Amino acid sequence: MTTKDIGPKGPVVKTGEAVVDYVDDRSGVKTGARWFLFRNIPKGTSWFQTLGFTAMALFGLQAITGIVLAMYYKPDTNTAFRSIEYITDEVTWGWLVRGMHKWGASAMIVVVFLHMGRVFIWGAYKYPRELTWVTGAVLLFMTMFMGLTGYLLVWDQKAYWATVVAVNITASAPILGPYVGDILRAGPEFGPNTLSRFYSIHMLVIPGGIATFIGLHLYFITRLGISEPPWSKRRLRIERDEEDARRRAARERQSLAGRTVVPAGEPAVPARAEVAE
Ligand code: HEM
Repeated sequence: MTTKDIGPKGPVVKTGEAVVDYVDDRSGVKTGARWFLFRNIPKGTSWFQTLGFTAMALFGLQAITGIVLAMYYKPDTNTAFRSIEYITDEVTWGWLVRGMHKWGASAMIVVVFLHMGRVFIWGAYKYPRELTWVTGAVLLFMTMFMGLTGYLLVWDQKAYWATVVAVNITASAPILGPYVGDILRAGPEFGPNTLSRFYSIHMLVIPGGIATFIGLHLYFITRLGISEPPWSKRRLRIERDEEDARRRAARERQSLAGRTVVPAGEPAVPARAEVAE
């Protein structure tokens, strides 16, 4: 404890505390923030578990740089490319913001894949974190779709033809493909409406979806906690206990059915209480 904690409080601190108490009294925000931020994390938590936050930080950066770009970008087939040139060559720091947005998109995709790889290799998708994985999978899909829709906005030859190929591949999928193709193109042909459609999906639909699913993902992470590393002794012990219980249940089923109780050469399973702590 420092003298700051026991000395008289200044008017600014007093007012601040009164405002926080007022809001907390009505919204419970302090309890919520404590639930979200102050939790125990497993022993052995390492840099590997920072990849999810890195993906989230990159999304934040994409949102900020995207807002700046949207102030100058014109989603019209006659002016789109010219507005991109204007941002790059004439807007103060425009080249930097555009570069950050472009490289940030690639970085986000790479980091999301690394994060997913880490989760997969650690087996962190297993019970009880299935829904954390499912919300993550939706985030992966939306992150990739963000890349596709953003690519067209430059409206140069490369962007145009690359998107034509991607949409044609999508449209060739059975049953739903042609409908999805029409939705993406905003009709049967590529044209001005396609650009507006991609712009709206890129600017509004997907960022809204990603923000919503990050919220859900974080809710599950906070509620279920992050998993222990695969080399954690406690985790190995729990997994061994579960395996023992499964085998015991299988033998009981077999003995009830009047068949062999213990397969030859297999050690007798210790009772749960005998398993080393
Ligand atoms: C925009 C994309 C994503 C963001 C912002 C994000 C964010 C996070 C954060 C902050 C964490 C907690 C810290 C950590 O373990 O790194 C986490 C954990 C987790 N994420 Fe993601 N994630 C994303 C994509 C994904 C994807 C693509 C998957 C799998 C398909 C996934 C599945 C999980 C799972 C299962 C956990 C729990 C890991 C554990 O308990 O150890 N996430 N995510």
